[in-house]
Amino acid sequence: MPDPAFYTAVETRRTVRDFLPDPVPQEVLDRSLDAARLAASSSNLQPWEFVVIRDPRVRQAANAACLDQLPAKTAPVLIALVTHRETWRRNRDEILRIFEGRGPMRPSQAAYYRKIIPVIYTTGPFGLLGPLKRAVSRLASLFRPTPNLMSRADIRVMAHKSTALAAATFMLALRAEGYDSCPMEGFDPWRAKALLGLSRGAEVNMFLAVGKRTDKGVWWDRVLMPREWVVREL
Ligand SMILES: Cc1cc2nc3c(=O)[nH]c(=O)nc-3n(C[C@H](O)[C@H](O)[C@H](O)COP(=O)(O)O)c2cc1C
Repeated sequence: MPDPAFYTAVETRRTVRDFLPDPVPQEVLDRSLDAARLAASSSNLQPWEFVVIRDPRVRQAANAACLDQLPAKTAPVLIALVTHRETWRRNRDEILRIFEGRGPMRPSQAAYYRKIIPVIYTTGPFGLLGPLKRAVSRLASLFRPTPNLMSRADIRVMAHKSTALAAATFMLALRAEGYDSCPMEGFDPWRAKALLGLSRGAEVNMFLAVGKRTDKGVWWDRVLMPREWVVREL
């Protein structure tokens, strides 16, 4: 039997654009953030960072970076979800440290993290090796199934995919807690990056406004594409 609690969270999650001023309890936020940390990520490298904006001056500038959208202005909590595409080495080392602490590693696991991950993530100075890696993969793929060895742009896409899964998990967890959210990619990426002091290899994936909906919070009824446009069996 399906778990009805899961489907209730999925079905009642809506994008909320007008929030009550009531604060979000810290334990609700913490549980939801910890749920988001469980999201799947490419090679388990967890390239995300949730920045909970508390400082009122930073918050004001973040609202402006979000183009003063209503959800940003009204939400009691605003979070910048950051994608880091250059934390792979640190995170890979942490994975190895944890695995090694648990006892002998499987050789395939050790080889994957020690040898294959650096090949995937190394793109050389200015990313110049990337197009070459991609071209080699494409050529080899003509002869046998080959993974994309990844240019810098491919790595960026990969990191954003994983981060968006963490966002989805976070929003569903909030819903299970009785809270709402609005994901926002309508923001000024350059100002947002400067505001958060992000390094070159980091970008804001999206902002997340969090709180409880007002009765005007959901702007319109759900609109879904026809099922046959989005589900195909081959
Ligand atoms: C990646 C992403 C970016 C979005 N950006 C914005 C945004 O900047 N402003 C906004 O009001 N809604 C934004 N939305 C919300 C979508 O408009 C909303 O999810 C969609 O209309 C479906 O509505 P629902 O979430 O209530 O099912 C965004 C959603 C996603 C997934």
